[in-house]
Parts: sequence; C-alpha cells; structure tokens
Amino acid sequence: MTNVGIDAVEIWTGKLKLDLAETFAPEKGDDPAKYTKGLGLFESSFPDTYEDIVTMGANASKRLMERKGLEPEDIGRIDVATESSFDNSKPISTYIAGCLEQTFDGDFHHANKGERKFACVAGTQAVDDAYNWIRAGRNRGRSAIVVATDTALYKRGDPGEATQGAGAVAMLISEDPDLVELSSDQGYGSADETDFLKPNQQFPSVDGKRSVQVYLARMREALVDYESVAGDIHPEDFVYAPFHTPFPGMVRKAALLAYRHITRDTEIEEELAAEIGRQPREEAFDDWDDYVEAVQEYTDALKGTDHYADWYDATIDPTLDIARHVGNWYTGSVHVARAACLKRAYEEGRDLTGERLLVGSYGSGAQAEIHHETLQDSWEEEIAALNIDEQIDARYDLSFEEYEQVHAAHDHSKDRDFEEFTAPDGEFVFDGWGRMGERKYRFVE
Ligand code: HMG
Repeated sequence: MTNVGIDAVEIWTGKLKLDLAETFAPEKGDDPAKYTKGLGLFESSFPDTYEDIVTMGANASKRLMERKGLEPEDIGRIDVATESSFDNSKPISTYIAGCLEQTFDGDFHHANKGERKFACVAGTQAVDDAYNWIRAGRNRGRSAIVVATDTALYKRGDPGEATQGAGAVAMLISEDPDLVELSSDQGYGSADETDFLKPNQQFPSVDGKRSVQVYLARMREALVDYESVAGDIHPEDFVYAPFHTPFPGMVRKAALLAYRHITRDTEIEEELAAEIGRQPREEAFDDWDDYVEAVQEYTDALKGTDHYADWYDATIDPTLDIARHVGNWYTGSVHVARAACLKRAYEEGRDLTGERLLVGSYGSGAQAEIHHETLQDSWEEEIAALNIDEQIDARYDLSFEEYEQVHAAHDHSKDRDFEEFTAPDGEFVFDGWGRMGERKYRFVE
C-alpha cells in the first residue's frame, strides 16, 4: 500500500501579539491567572493591517515550496481550510495560488483547487482529501499543498475574546513523506449541534460552555469509533496525542477523560485500584445518576494520581507549547499541536522514528476525528526547519488601545484604516481592493 502522509510543514503567525495577563486581564478587571492557569493562555497572535488569511497562507506555502525545492508543476492540488473566508464563491486557494505565481516560475493551472468547510476540523478534512487523491492514484506523482488559515476573532466582549488568534499552517501531502505517515484507521464522532456557528456573519455566535461539553462528547464518540477499527488503545501506544486546542484548558479536560477511557481494563487501572478504587461499571448501578456521580468522583481522584500526571506531562503537555503563545487558530490548531510536540522532542534529542501520534481533530457544529500517524526517518530535519520561535518572539506587543484598533481594522463591518505596526519584509501583503470587490495582493521584497 502506498505510504502517504505529511511531507513537510510550515507555520506562519500573525505579526502582532496581545499579552493576556499583562494587557487584557487588567482592562477586563480579571485575575491574570484566569488566563495563564485557567485557560492556559499567555498571548494571542493577531494579523497586522496588511495581513489576512491569504497573506499568512501564501507566506507559509512559499516557505514550504522553497524549502522543499518545489516548482508549481510539482503541485497537483491546493486546498485551503478556513472559516474566515471573505468570499462565498471564489476559494481562498485561488488567491494563494495567484500570490505564489508572482514569485515562482510557472503556474498552477493544472492543479485542482478548493476550499473545505467544517469549522476547525476542516484542516484535517483537507489533509484527508489530499491523502485520498494520492491513494486513488490520481496525483501523477505530484504532491498537494493543504493550507489551514484563520483569523479567529470574536465579537468584542464575547467570552471567546480571550481565546482569539491568527495564523496559517501549510502542509505538503506526498507519497513517501518525510514527516509522518497517516493511518487509514479513522474514527468519527459527528452530530448536528448548535454550539458555535457563523450564519453569514464574520464573528461567531457562541455558546461557550456548551461548546466545551460538545467537544468532549464528540471526541469520546470518535475515540470509540477509532478503537472499533484500530483496536483498544493503551496509553503507551502513543508518544504524543496532539488534539485540537481552542485553549490549553480544553485539552486538559479532554485528556483526563481520554486517560480514564484508555486505562479501563488495563494493568494501570489495577495498579491504581489500591489508591482510588476501580472504575465504576454501569452494570453495577441501578440508578443512572448514582453511576454518573461515581464516575465523576473517580475522575476527580484520577486527576490527582502520579500515573495520570506523568502521562499528561509526557504525552499532552508538549502539544500545548505553541498554542499557549498564539491562541486558537481554528483550522490550523491541531496541526500547530502536532508541530509543538515534535519540536519539544527534537529539542530534547529524542529518537522517535517509527513511533506513533494519536491525533484528535475537532470542529464545532460538530465533528471530531481521530487517527494515528507514524513518524518517518527524516522527521527531525523537517521539524528543525521550523522558525516559529523566532516569529513568535518578533511579534509587536500591542497596548490595549492598539488591540482595539487592530480588532476594528479587521472587522469587515467597519471602514477603518490604521497604520501598520510592523514592516513587511520578503512577504505577500494585502494591497487594496479591485474593481469587482476582490482583494489584491503583492509581494514586498
Ligand atoms: P469564561 O466564562 O470567560 O471563563 O469562558 P471561565 O469562568 O469558565 O474560566 C475559564 C477557566 O479558568 C475555568 O477553568 C475557571 O475555573 C478558570 P475550569 O473550571 O473550566 O477548568 N479560572 C481560574 N483559574 C485560576 N485562577 C483564576 C481563575 N479564574 C477562572 N483566578 C470559555 C470560557 C471557554 C467558555 C470562553 O473562553 C469561550 O466561549 N471560548 C470560545 C469557545 C471555545 O473555545 N470553546 C471550546 C470548545 S469548542 C471548539 O474547540 C471549537 C472552536 O475552535 C471553533 C471551531 O471549531 O471552529 C472554538
């Protein structure tokens, strides 16, 4: 069977940052610990006035193509996943291809282009589409570029304002990939939910507390569905478990439930029995509410055990290293989580070739997807090439007043223009509107 997966990845963050503890919390009258400890977020990335989903996606894709020595003729497919599109007809992938054609010889006229929508899970769905295209033998030896790009802004005053972010992840999907091979085993948890949506509006309507519950319910369904094809999971099967990360606190909740699920009927449950008892079994209870209460008590106790803390520190915590400093990037978020844990492993000099990741994607509305990935021989070289730390450190630190201006500048309902805070350097920038209402872009040397 053809080995297909992610050959390379590049990450592009918006060039501005909002410090949540130092700048945002005092204005809201909040304890900074609500952000740093509760939500697990320190900073959010924002786009400068000349940046948007196209520039961030095109800049990440340009780095990707240059680093891999690719020309447009090597690419047979460009798919963009976004929930921040400004066009209901013309896909963002056409704008990105147009940008790239300004700087590469040749064109993408024979590449299939599209746009994927299902909230944040669309990034993984676009990777799946590319995987299926290659496995079907329709790629003629060419690779696909998948770009997950979003400007995740909430209405001013919405509780979600604390979890904003902006950035793009570009991935090259190829045969015999250098980074990870994707599994054909997959699990889904999908239901018609009304927790987070954008009915023809720029900023989402959100039922934040409910969205947290829906995330957990769909993720659990996806895990059970994945196990039905891949077999029962044991915590030691995976070196890391990157999950969709709207904010690290969300992943903390999901990780605890996942650990409870995957330790059931294992030697770990037995080892823990003396300390916290065995997991409650539904059949031992006459009353459903009593069962639920017992499960809650067990889960609270499990959280305090060394077994859980050790697994969490090793398998989950490294996946949050980047998210803590950039916020939610919607479609790109789970792909940032993958890069974060591999970056940690690279920095620690770990040998992970052949090891597996358990990857959990999620999109509101709602759908979760779980699959696994196997690290390939050249994963270290791919991860070493990332420059996300330099980008994060170089961001302009906004005052609260400046943040308000930036938010307004990116609000489509407002006609506000502000001076940029940073200077573009060797990148694509937004260059004003065309006569048919299209957005225009140019490359700045
Ligand atoms: P909130 O009401 O402002 O915050 O909104 P809170 O009061 O629930 O506090 C947050 C956490 O901080 C809590 O932790 C507090 O206890 C803790 P928890 O109890 O839940 O573990 N806390 C503190 N900790 C330490 N010291 C303190 C302190 N104060 C409080 N002093 C909410 C939180 C998530 C609802 C909000 O940010 C929101 O609406 N976010 C947007 C929706 C969202 O991100 N949902 C996540 C699941 S849905 C999803 O992932 C999909 C999405 O990416 C979209 C897509 O798919 O397209 C969003």
